[in-house]
Amino acid sequence: MKEVVFDFNGKNFVVVGASSGMGYQVAVELAEAGAGVLAVARNKERLKELGDRYPERISIASVDVTRADGKEWTNVLDDFIAHRGKFNGLVYTAGTTGTTPLRFYDEAVARAIMETGFWGAIGLMQVLSKKKYVNPSSSFVLFASTAGHVGTKGLSVYSAAKGALMVAVRSLTHDLAKDRHRINTISPGYVNTGMTRSSIEEMGEPFGVKERHLLGIGEPSDVSGMVLFLLSDRAKWITGEDFVVDGGQLRGAWR
Ligand SMILES: NC(=O)c1ccc[n+]([C@@H]2O[C@H](COP(=O)([O-])OP(=O)(O)OC[C@H]3O[C@@H](n4cnc5c(N)ncnc54)[C@H](OP(=O)(O)O)[C@@H]3O)[C@@H](O)[C@H]2O)c1
Repeated sequence: MKEVVFDFNGKNFVVVGASSGMGYQVAVELAEAGAGVLAVARNKERLKELGDRYPERISIASVDVTRADGKEWTNVLDDFIAHRGKFNGLVYTAGTTGTTPLRFYDEAVARAIMETGFWGAIGLMQVLSKKKYVNPSSSFVLFASTAGHVGTKGLSVYSAAKGALMVAVRSLTHDLAKDRHRINTISPGYVNTGMTRSSIEEMGEPFGVKERHLLGIGEPSDVSGMVLFLLSDRAKWITGEDFVVDGGQLRGAWR
């Protein structure tokens, strides 16, 4: 028996980055807790597989957050609320990584990291936070990273994108509080997902990563509990903060 059980019946959430990793896990757990979910990412096949698992709960939309303008988001959100009603929040996990050392700097990589992880979130927030789309007391959770807390070789732009999100929510909380909305970021440590698996394939495992995580490398389900808590009304007095969920990484030895 689970010690903490969430009940999101009657509530709807947008999950961006739902085709893989932590976004996929959050979408599944929300659906299992009774929520309606608009699952967003680019990969149509993986989205369809997710939607087919929970046809009553999950609707899917293929959107590239680096290209979506206000009109595209409006169409996608309008379509969902016409069938299922307004939203109660957002989980934004879309992100891409890559190294940007000064000596081998690739501006296209740097811009993709910022566009996906930071500007995509801000663009969606601008549309979704309208009264037309969200109920009062909605909760927005954006994915940052422990990389936004510490320096790591070659990760200046990825760290900057995550740091930008963390700092932006401190001001966004002012914009949103009049409707009792809340906004927070989550900073995971190293989690076993598509992102880390492909980076291991490309560059090998980061030096000392296992040793730094005092509780070992994480799984998506080690992070999703904090996300569901922040979406729930048990977190109704929590806003403008970053929550580190990292198996002790930031307390482990750092190179
Ligand atoms: N894994 C880690 O160790 C770790 C640690 C700290 C922070 N994070 C952060 O946590 C978040 C989730 O990471 P993850 O490990 O779960 O990654 P993941 O498995 O690679 O999932 C990333 C998701 O983002 C979506 N996405 C990427 N670019 C997109 C775009 N242009 N438009 C729409 N969707 C896009 C991907 O879907 P499509 O490819 O289908 O578009 C996928 O669903 C990211 O922001 C990441 O930076 C991860």
